[in-house]
Amino acid sequence: MRIGLLGFGTVGQGVYELTGPRPDMQVVWVLCRRPLSLPDAKVTHDFNDILLDPTVDTVVEAIGGLHPAREYVLAAIRAGKNVVTANKALVATFYDELLPLTLEKGTLLRCTASVGGGIGWLSELERVRRIETVRSVGGIMNGTCNYILDAMTRRGLSYEDALAQTQALGYAEADPTTDVDGIDTWHKLIVSANIAFGVSLDISAIPAAGIRRIRGEDVARFRARGYTCKLISRAQAEEGAYHAYVQPELFPQGAPEAAVPENYNLITLVGSTSGRQSFLGQGAGRYPTAYNVVQDCVDFLSGRGFYCGYGPKVPVTNDRPMRYYVRGGWPRERTRENWDGAAVTEPVPVAQMHRWLKENPEAFIAALPE
Ligand SMILES: NC(=O)c1ccc[n+]([C@@H]2O[C@H](COP(=O)([O-])OP(=O)(O)OC[C@H]3O[C@@H](n4cnc5c(N)ncnc54)[C@H](OP(=O)(O)O)[C@@H]3O)[C@@H](O)[C@H]2O)c1
Repeated sequence: MRIGLLGFGTVGQGVYELTGPRPDMQVVWVLCRRPLSLPDAKVTHDFNDILLDPTVDTVVEAIGGLHPAREYVLAAIRAGKNVVTANKALVATFYDELLPLTLEKGTLLRCTASVGGGIGWLSELERVRRIETVRSVGGIMNGTCNYILDAMTRRGLSYEDALAQTQALGYAEADPTTDVDGIDTWHKLIVSANIAFGVSLDISAIPAAGIRRIRGEDVARFRARGYTCKLISRAQAEEGAYHAYVQPELFPQGAPEAAVPENYNLITLVGSTSGRQSFLGQGAGRYPTAYNVVQDCVDFLSGRGFYCGYGPKVPVTNDRPMRYYVRGGWPRERTRENWDGAAVTEPVPVAQMHRWLKENPEAFIAALPE
């Protein structure tokens, strides 16, 4: 396998290092904007060098972002090259372009590292689908948010101090929006759910509420009642109806989610015969992520492409009612309990609560367990 590697950052460098000693694959080109010289690969800042090299059969996309990643990946597929990407934003946003094109061209596409980093979550979903129906997927998919919530809960840090620590440790970007507003989790949920259910969910109907507004006073109220707050993704398929959303949720002591420490992920599926299976691990980092990129390349060697076929576009309903903790602006007549000045609501359909939150962006919400 002759690889054109796009990007030489955290993941790209890891892929270069892990493929180096392998006899079955070789990085022959690296696309990089900075000056770089490598002993055994050509370096270019022009993607066409890779696209037009007929000896390159595989493109590994590790530049991130939507553009030009989309244009590069589509061009590579059109040119008949197989593509591995770690880019969940790309796959979630352009699923309806990428998957039909790769199926039409007969090329291979995989993105295992895009959800869960080094956890083999998507390839496990593929295995589960060979035997049974997946009923639900979701869990803790963002290590940065988990680190912040864990530091606030177990060490009593403020949101600001916990966020600063994740930045100092290199978990969060200088601009943490994608993580703390739940967008990264949203992308991972879309990729996971599309593969789990073999459909293309209507992403415009999948809401995401993040943790940006959480305060120490919220965590103190949760702790006093034995709850731990986590940022959770959920997607369920129930008799042809689909539910999918991202939101903070409360877990009682003893729930596996409540115990997930630091920057760990805990991703769970429920299969129709195997039941509940959870996957715990660090969902990011150079080598864990590069490991799954290389696993995808190895899968290409045996002809394994995408995890599922391209299924129908389906609506998302999110009409199941949940009770929510709300700090800020919730109407008194729809309040069932008062937690030291914050409201606990009557059951409210998920979609309705997220619409309310859009109109009240200063509020913080967290769903209560059923
Ligand atoms: N890091 C992780 O642990 C992790 C885990 C799972 C998935 N991922 C995914 O992996 C992808 C890469 O992440 P990363 O952490 O490796 O990011 P990164 O460290 O920022 O690396 C990206 C690299 O791509 C380069 N680049 C960006 N645009 C480019 C362009 N147009 N042409 C050439 N080079 C370009 C950047 O170059 P400059 O230095 O010039 O900006 C940078 O070196 C993302 O999609 C991310 O979501 C990462």
